[in-house]
Amino acid sequence: MAAAAADAPTTKVPETMRAVQYDAFGGGAEGLKHVEVPVPSAKKNELLLKLEVASINPVDWKIQKGMLRPFIPRKLPFIPGTDVAGVVVEVGPGVNGFQTGDQVVAELNSFYGGGLAEYAVASESLTVKRPPEVSAAESAGLPIAAATALQSLRAIGAKFDGTDKPPLNVLITAASGGVGLYAVQLAKLAGFHVTATCGARNVKLLKSLGADEVLDYRTPEGASLQSPSGKKYDGIIHCTVGVSWSTFDPVLAPTGKVIDITPNFTTVLKSTLHKVTFAKKRLVTLLMSPNKADLEFLVRLLKDGKMKTMIDSRFPLSEASKAWERSIEGHATGKIIVEMDG
Ligand SMILES: NC(=O)c1ccc[n+]([C@@H]2O[C@H](COP(=O)([O-])OP(=O)(O)OC[C@H]3O[C@@H](n4cnc5c(N)ncnc54)[C@H](OP(=O)(O)O)[C@@H]3O)[C@@H](O)[C@H]2O)c1
Repeated sequence: MAAAAADAPTTKVPETMRAVQYDAFGGGAEGLKHVEVPVPSAKKNELLLKLEVASINPVDWKIQKGMLRPFIPRKLPFIPGTDVAGVVVEVGPGVNGFQTGDQVVAELNSFYGGGLAEYAVASESLTVKRPPEVSAAESAGLPIAAATALQSLRAIGAKFDGTDKPPLNVLITAASGGVGLYAVQLAKLAGFHVTATCGARNVKLLKSLGADEVLDYRTPEGASLQSPSGKKYDGIIHCTVGVSWSTFDPVLAPTGKVIDITPNFTTVLKSTLHKVTFAKKRLVTLLMSPNKADLEFLVRLLKDGKMKTMIDSRFPLSEASKAWERSIEGHATGKIIVEMDG
């Protein structure tokens, strides 16, 4: 273990910790087990964090279902969760930018998880300091959800450097979800005209976050995805499932792109076909690629009050299965947070 800086606070790290894990694929919330396991230690270029919170993403329970098998998880039993915020309590060899006591947000290695626990090891390369203005819960929403929104908007041409002109028309589907709520706010920061789809109960919320037009997805107009003002979309950030190309095609501008963040076999084929045939309108599948610069950018937006994390619900670690269930149900408005001190 590397020595902490002389003036850094030291925290006694216990031998064991509370964690939630599963030891087999499937089983949903009932498959989660509360265990006492050894606290991991920070190796080269790693930090040991005392976690305050983790946020749940749909991919966490999709991994439990075996959807990323055989790649993730690397082994069972598996402590799920990657998006965490907490305090550095141990600094591994080779780490230069952090010391014990730093408040941080991190994206844990998805192959090994570790987020639903009192302590977790994070790579320095995916850890960012959290300014006092940004709470642990707000920051823990960012790593997967906000970065996916950011990268999707970049894929349709957003630059976020003040040169986003002329404004593009974008549609964001499932705009009330973890990704969608960040996507709407980021699209407005880029100066875009935003149409959003959500359920009736969230129309006001989406308008308050700046969406110019909002469609209730359970109405025929919503299902058609047509902009009420007749605008064609330069880009669609597609955050849900069950919409076919024949619905997207008529609402896209001549060179419009659909960024599909929920790819399946059919959409991967369609996107490959569009690519090899140099189609003007395109379906593009996107898998978020974790990187520190994006996380730093997003933390800065929270700090400057330019973007908010909308929190759907909070659960103590002792009730992690309720958080899991809430995500599986698919009706969260924003991020689901698990707090480690409960
Ligand atoms: N490719 C990637 O790298 C990547 C990264 C992150 C997420 N994802 C995927 O993207 C999807 C969205 O993630 P998320 O975290 O935003 O999910 P989420 O928070 O669970 O989304 C829930 C929200 O979606 C709304 N919704 C569900 N179906 C809808 C529909 N047909 N039209 C409009 N709104 C609908 C729900 O509204 P109601 O409650 O009103 O139904 C709810 O507010 C998930 O499948 C996730 O796995 C992919």
